Amino acid sequence: MRPQLVVCASGSGSNFEAIVRASREGRLDADVGGLVVSRAEALAVERARRLGVPVVTLAVREFATRAEWDDAMVARLREWRADWVVLAGYLSLIGPRTLHAFSGRIVNSHPALLPKFGGAGMYGDRVHAAVIAAGERETGLTVHTIDEEYDRGHVLAQARVPVESGDDARALAERVKAREREFYPEVLQQLVTGRITIG
Ligand code: GRF
Repeated sequence: MRPQLVVCASGSGSNFEAIVRASREGRLDADVGGLVVSRAEALAVERARRLGVPVVTLAVREFATRAEWDDAMVARLREWRADWVVLAGYLSLIGPRTLHAFSGRIVNSHPALLPKFGGAGMYGDRVHAAVIAAGERETGLTVHTIDEEYDRGHVLAQARVPVESGDDARALAERVKAREREFYPEVLQQLVTGRITIG
């Protein structure tokens, strides 16, 4: 049986779609069993419907406590038989019960070369604005694991992307995302086929 991925997203879901396409076009030996979104308005929901991928909204604010939300996440990931949990622009912090239940099997893509330009508040265009403000000539992507010790997630792979003169955060974000839509599925393929291992 092919490994099962469950993707978690909060935004446009372009990486989610790239992963589904890679799976369906024979570039990724895994199936996408479902999409979890943190807010019902995420554009990713539309993509999931169009692609025929089951989707569920698990919004923290719809649960009485964070622990209940965390339990619902674990239950859903188990129901969808997730072998890997793939974060793709997912903006909620993963809860401790999910981290424990899927320890070493949760991966994320960050749009910069970690450890630079990571940490609290570093998401979306803020990352790219910070890269430009720092005068960097190069940025990129980092695919890494998430575990109980957030900041010590293991770096699985990085790709480099040039910063060009005249770039604003939007232009740089687009260049990085274009690379990410190829690179993230490639790294997932290496992961599910055991060519890269964790820890
Ligand atoms: C990606 O650049 C990813 O690295 C970051 O959020 C962005 C999500 O974009 N964590 P999309 O929703 O996949 O289009």
